[in-house]
Amino acid sequence: MFFCTIISILFILCSNPSNAIDRRIINGINAADGEYPYHVSLREPINVHLCSGSILSRQWILTTSFCILMTPEFVIVVGSNTINGSGDTYQVDSIQIHPLYDTNNLDYAAGLVNTTTPIVYSIKVQPIVLTPLVPIDGASVVISGYGSNVSDQDTFTNELKAFNTTVISQTECGAQLSQIGFNLGSTHICTSVAEGSSSCYFDYGSPVTDPKVMDPYDKGVFYRSNVSESIFSVIFEDTINVWKNEPSLQKYYEKTTDEITKKIYEVRNRDSKLNVLNHGDFWCNNLLFHYDADERLDDVLFVDFQGSVFASPFVDLHYFIATSTSQEVKEKHIYDILRYYYDTLVENVKLFKVETAIPNWNDFEKDFRDKAFIGFITMCIALPVIKAKNIKNASVDNLIGSDEDGSFRRNCFTNTLYLNEIKFLLQFYDSLGVFNN
Ligand SMILES: *[C@@H]1O[C@H](CO)[C@@H](O)[C@H](O)[C@H]1NC(C)=O
Ligand SMILES: *[C@@H]1O[C@H](CO)[C@@H](O)[C@H](O)[C@H]1NC(C)=O
Ligand SMILES: *[C@@H]1O[C@H](CO)[C@@H](O)[C@H](O)[C@H]1NC(C)=O
Ligand SMILES: *[C@@H]1O[C@H](CO)[C@@H](O)[C@H](O)[C@H]1NC(C)=O
Ligand SMILES: *[C@@H]1O[C@H](CO)[C@@H](O)[C@H](O)[C@H]1NC(C)=O
Ligand SMILES: *[C@@H]1O[C@H](CO)[C@@H](O)[C@H](O)[C@H]1NC(C)=O
Repeated sequence: MFFCTIISILFILCSNPSNAIDRRIINGINAADGEYPYHVSLREPINVHLCSGSILSRQWILTTSFCILMTPEFVIVVGSNTINGSGDTYQVDSIQIHPLYDTNNLDYAAGLVNTTTPIVYSIKVQPIVLTPLVPIDGASVVISGYGSNVSDQDTFTNELKAFNTTVISQTECGAQLSQIGFNLGSTHICTSVAEGSSSCYFDYGSPVTDPKVMDPYDKGVFYRSNVSESIFSVIFEDTINVWKNEPSLQKYYEKTTDEITKKIYEVRNRDSKLNVLNHGDFWCNNLLFHYDADERLDDVLFVDFQGSVFASPFVDLHYFIATSTSQEVKEKHIYDILRYYYDTLVENVKLFKVETAIPNWNDFEKDFRDKAFIGFITMCIALPVIKAKNIKNASVDNLIGSDEDGSFRRNCFTNTLYLNEIKFLLQFYDSLGVFNN
């Protein structure tokens, strides 16, 4: 499931459909150049717009089956904001109709087109952001498309338009449609006709998108809420008590200020230089390793993405180093890991033609040290659980619950595996300058 829907059904809901032949988006506002970089025009080779689609990836376009069955021959034009404007044109290699496509009620209306050559991305040409979430009833969404305006509904507007609208419930939509004998399919998403703006006939393939699609990637695991605040404060207290009561760690206890622990809420901040989509809870238990017949690692899969956060790449890097590398790796190979990450990042940014400036290596390395507090915070908050030896009644409640002998909480902060690790890590983060400012 992805939230980039086909709105072939929406025409039924548009106002006064009886006299509308070529109405598309009614009203709405003109799109700024490049504002909807995933929006493409499927055109007959003589440059006549047929319908819209979205760039899914370099060689795949999502549109409706209805549209691609309409004509034997068409091309894909990307990066154009007008219905007949020039943009980069791609030839079609093949089309795919959804195998369950129902021509009666247009259920499973998705259709795919692949291009003979890969689409070149730029500021004005980008893939659509997909999400596994189904929009909730009442969610605000944006529809972009070519249309007409109220004063002259039979004339196409040349410019790509867009308008805000809301998702209406399947029940409400189904009830309205059944009055005119239409059976709402299971794959449809309905949107309302808002203040005279709507999507209408011939708007096939236009995407419905959620402008807040990145919002779920704003939080991560170190997000401030009433619940997390109370959990974090208890863990910090226990953690710092360990340093206080252990002679060899007392110097760190003395250097620890409120300012350092408060940095927990800075982990998720967007960075001024570079942001990436971090896994967010990036430790070895969330990685699956596959070995070939010779017991050589041949594949790795990430799982458990509930802490994903769009922020500095050092969120994952520091989290991983703090939780999942041996002392030897930390002593001898940190900069190998960093360099590997950096080189791969640069390579992929080039490959995807992302127009993001990547800091040079020296700045990247410096940022690693500036962001060492992320590793330090991870050590304080996540490591007690990760190194817990006896996981009998392990749970968040028990982590901040009873501290009696034999309890899970006591075990987290007193087992030797944990103690040995923090002795090493405190020294490590001290050397990276965590206590300096
Ligand atoms: C697009 O259509 C408009 C309106 O019909 C016309 O004025 C313009 O010249 C056309 N542009 C191109 C590139 O064909
Ligand atoms: C397009 O898709 C078809 C069907 O999946 C595939 O056979 C073909 O190789 C693809 N073409 C390109 C250029 O990727
Ligand atoms: C709406 O259509 C009329 C008639 O073609 C035109 O004069 C007017 O500029 C259009 N308005 C917009 C906002 O496109
Ligand atoms: C949708 O609403 C937002 C917030 O009010 C506004 O900034 C944006 O311009 C609107 N978009 C369209 C296409 O009307
Ligand atoms: C968080 O706590 C504050 C103060 O106790 C309270 O006013 C607020 O409603 C709480 N927020 C949530 C989401 O529970
Ligand atoms: C967990 O289990 C042990 C032994 O079964 C018990 O003594 C202890 O009280 C339990 N509770 C917590 C909070 O750890």
